[in-house]
Amino acid sequence: MNGTIAMDQAWGIKDMLSAMISHTEPGDSNTHQASSLLTGSATARRQCRAIAVAGGKGGVGKSTMAVNLGMSLSMAGHQVMLLDADMGLANVDVLLGLAPTRHIGHFLEGECQLEDLLMTAPRGLQVIPAGSGARRLAQLDRGEYAGIIRAFEELSQPPRYLLVDTAAGLTDSVAMFASAADDVVLVVCDEPASITDAYALIKVLSRDFDVRRFRMVANMVRNETEARQLHHKLTRVSDRFLDVVIDFTGWVPHDERLRQAIKRQSAVVDLWPSSRSGLAFKKLAGAVDTWAEPERTGQDRIAFFGNRVAPAAGY
Ligand SMILES: Nc1ncnc2c1ncn2[C@@H]1O[C@H](COP(=O)(O)OP(=O)(O)O)[C@@H](O)[C@H]1O
Ligand SMILES: [Mg+2]
Repeated sequence: MNGTIAMDQAWGIKDMLSAMISHTEPGDSNTHQASSLLTGSATARRQCRAIAVAGGKGGVGKSTMAVNLGMSLSMAGHQVMLLDADMGLANVDVLLGLAPTRHIGHFLEGECQLEDLLMTAPRGLQVIPAGSGARRLAQLDRGEYAGIIRAFEELSQPPRYLLVDTAAGLTDSVAMFASAADDVVLVVCDEPASITDAYALIKVLSRDFDVRRFRMVANMVRNETEARQLHHKLTRVSDRFLDVVIDFTGWVPHDERLRQAIKRQSAVVDLWPSSRSGLAFKKLAGAVDTWAEPERTGQDRIAFFGNRVAPAAGY
């Protein structure tokens, strides 16, 4: 099965995540505790917002988005952490020219704490690297994903924003990180396969994980008109068949500068903040900063990623 989600297994994951939140067994009546944790004080909720960057298809710009949006938020003065959740095919470290000596695999083996993995990239962005080329990392079980997610509650210095760069495909990995986050940013480009893969991801996340809201960013488009047309293409189908809201969040142009930055293993917002893509990421970061605080309504939405990062949530 290679970790691909089967319909009948999806609820098992959700049940397990609920249980992890409330420290109870799946099905235990105490799972209602989850809602009180998730609705903790407003102060606690403001402390960290987890944003999963997803898209379904590979090569659409998810990692580029996670790195540049994360760094733009950091440049705007926020504490930002970026988790490379493309386990086994890590590339955040490559994009940023980092040379990690330890990665999430060491954490899973119990050789270090999550905090020991933190690396500081330019502009103060903190990165938790994934391992590359380790077959085992590409085939984690759900308990291990949940273990990684849960470890965020132990962080002594929680960030304001936690960005999660997810893998391609409709795997347990993507579903768990996306459903644990407060927001799912969908990176879509104007190619039929990108649109159909994004739609498939929305379908699985909404149907099996009750994720109802998505924030679409059009990547590698020429202008806003093209970006909005792309949004329209996606919503035309989803409005008909799925009970979801897909917000148009912004767009990033196709930019040769961005490719040059990648070749130099740097973020374009660091090297060329005034380039077209650099300015687009800055604008996106400004938009993210205006998002309303997430509504955590308890068991119907598993938003424990951000909540767990908050140390003062009172549990
Ligand atoms: N806005 C852009 N302009 C130009 N090239 C881009 C842009 N976004 C992404 N790319 C290109 O697409 C490639 C794949 O991006 P990446 O972020 O690794 O995709 P994913 O994480 O979705 O697999 C990058 O190496 C870069 O060459
Ligand atoms: Mg990637």
